[in-house]
Amino acid sequence: METIMYEDLYFDDPDEYQSGSYGKIKVCYYNNKKYAYKQFKNSKFLNGKRRKLSMLSNINISRLLVPKFWVCKNGNAKNAYLTDFCKGKSFDFLGVENIENKVNKINDSKNLIISMHEEGIIHADLNPSNILYNKEKTSIIDFDTCSFRNYKTNLLETTDYCQEFIKKYGIKPELDIFMFNILTYSLIQDCDYYLVRNSINKQKYGFFDNKYGRKICNSLFLDDDIPNNDFLIDTIDESKFIF
Ligand SMILES: Nc1ncnc2c1ncn2[C@@H]1O[C@H](COP(=O)(O)OP(=O)(O)O)[C@@H](O)[C@H]1O
Ligand SMILES: [Mg+2]
Repeated sequence: METIMYEDLYFDDPDEYQSGSYGKIKVCYYNNKKYAYKQFKNSKFLNGKRRKLSMLSNINISRLLVPKFWVCKNGNAKNAYLTDFCKGKSFDFLGVENIENKVNKINDSKNLIISMHEEGIIHADLNPSNILYNKEKTSIIDFDTCSFRNYKTNLLETTDYCQEFIKKYGIKPELDIFMFNILTYSLIQDCDYYLVRNSINKQKYGFFDNKYGRKICNSLFLDDDIPNNDFLIDTIDESKFIF
């Protein structure tokens, strides 16, 4: 992946940024094209991951927003990168849409996850803020913790909600499906994503008995010997929704 100079980027407003867990994300232009600039607070976060992120830049699926350029700032190379900018909102905001839009966007991102797995990428951090949507499409961002080729995600890089799965089954494509199913459930059932996640972590399965009952939620539980690879959205009877 090519390294470019910070001085060659143009920012509409250099002071405007979005806080991420590991740094800042700003909108910028490079050669008149719009990008998201991700600057890491601590360069150590990227140690051991730079080769993986460089390799990811060759992935040719435009809706997977992988890094495209390293950025060198104040003589420090490779502590920031650019990804194509996607206009839209994250899945954090999908809850307010009507059920038809929710189902469309969930299905669209499901197909994108399948394509991502065909490329050999396990994202390992599919939470609502890492899937973006607009009228036309959905996109996946934030591949920092993904598994790709000979880089395998370390358990310690992952958040608590992934760890129970990884301890039981290891890093598998089904991990992404499991995480995506948690998101699907909270969107379809109109309930708080973090409440669903915590209930699964604490095995408070009674939480799921309210409407569809346990049957519909089998894909969320970790009791089986083999990890479930069904997308929850495929097991939901869409005729129940009135579009
Ligand atoms: N390529 C992009 N296009 C549009 N918005 C983006 C892009 N990349 C990041 N963002 C915005 O910045 C937020 C945090 O980015 P992300 O890469 O997920 O950082 P973190 O590692 O802190 O989670 C996202 O939820 C999204 O709102
Ligand atoms: Mg993120």
